[in-house]
Amino acid sequence: MEIVAKTFAGLEELLAQEIKEAGGVEIKSIKRGVKFEANEEVLYRCLLSLRTVLRLLVPVFKFKAHTEKDLYFKVKKLAWEEYIDLNQTFAIDCVANSKVFNHSKFVSLRVKDAICDRFRANNNDQRPDVNVRNPDVPINVHVNNLDVTILLDVSGFSLHQRGYRTSDHRAPLNEALAAGVLMLSGWDKKTDLYDPMCGSGTLLVEAATMAQNIAPRLFFSKKFSLEKWDNFDVQLWKKVKKELKHKIEPSSVKIFGTDISQKAVQMAQFSAKDAAVDDIVEAYQADFFKRKNKLSKGFIVSNPPYGERLKEEDIIEFYKEIGNTFKREYGGFEAWLLSSNFQALKFLGLKPSKKIPLKNAALDVKLQKYELYDGSRRAVKQ
Ligand SMILES: C[S@@+](CC[C@H](N)C(=O)[O-])C[C@H]1O[C@@H](n2cnc3c(N)ncnc32)[C@H](O)[C@@H]1O
Repeated sequence: MEIVAKTFAGLEELLAQEIKEAGGVEIKSIKRGVKFEANEEVLYRCLLSLRTVLRLLVPVFKFKAHTEKDLYFKVKKLAWEEYIDLNQTFAIDCVANSKVFNHSKFVSLRVKDAICDRFRANNNDQRPDVNVRNPDVPINVHVNNLDVTILLDVSGFSLHQRGYRTSDHRAPLNEALAAGVLMLSGWDKKTDLYDPMCGSGTLLVEAATMAQNIAPRLFFSKKFSLEKWDNFDVQLWKKVKKELKHKIEPSSVKIFGTDISQKAVQMAQFSAKDAAVDDIVEAYQADFFKRKNKLSKGFIVSNPPYGERLKEEDIIEFYKEIGNTFKREYGGFEAWLLSSNFQALKFLGLKPSKKIPLKNAALDVKLQKYELYDGSRRAVKQ
């Protein structure tokens, strides 16, 4: 079957690589996503194991619609009973990029009416209910000019969720983006990894599950909508899960984080415990600017505050202090910072050796690499 996988802008190539490793074929990167082909086994594997994916969608109907009436009648003609049972609930989500269909909410409404009217006509006035919060069958409608594609959402919720986040940090990093950042950094999963401003620990937990090769949704208790489909193959699902469990590898890599906020540190500790990676993840309270480093080398990945809650001059001072701390304490380290505050990044006083533009939802962010030479290396260089 054909599948559309969605992700953040900038992570398309990583997602394509992950899909290839999961067994997908005919892989093609598109804007904020990847199209590919897969059998059921590969789809199940993708659902459980892709780290950078946000949604997996299966196109079920494609047609052209010229007017709103045309759309309504064409949707009404489709064999919806193959995908929705009378006793199931459904919901429509629409993305419209079209001059004719410029109100996505209205398109959703017309599609919903057409589906309900078809059921009513064929089932003595009975129809499936709509449940926007937790539908059995989440349906996506994509309209591009006059081209309409109707897709089934395989999960029913965003796949950045892994189930380990217990309570909410003020500014948590999205799990899929955190995984993407770690992959883009080229971290080898063997070098000690440190997040100096770890917040709720997203980078730490993602790094640990990557190091131990734990598929991110393998132990997720929430049901995926695909599990409610008529053709869901329980035996195959169990087989894929078993195979992924066998792929888990022990790792002794040290992954640690600090945060100035004790509450954030507790969240990081809870998350690591929940994800069963607390054997290799450690989080403790410390002010990064005062902490003494004892390691001669290591890998830093972090997303410092972007500055929403600080005055401009304060955030500039804050980034200057990050740069000073890097130079003073972390010679021999490789550091990667993710930030949306491009102005403040300039005040680190360090030249980035790589800049990768990314998107954090609608926000433009940059992932920048800094090679922190220690005294002896600098002397050798000189
Ligand atoms: C953008 S948040 C990090 C979010 C984190 N990646 C997550 O997924 O939850 C930035 C964090 O930096 C922490 N922070 C601010 N100043 C700090 C300092 N001097 N030392 C250590 N942590 C600091 C804040 O408490 C906050 O949790």
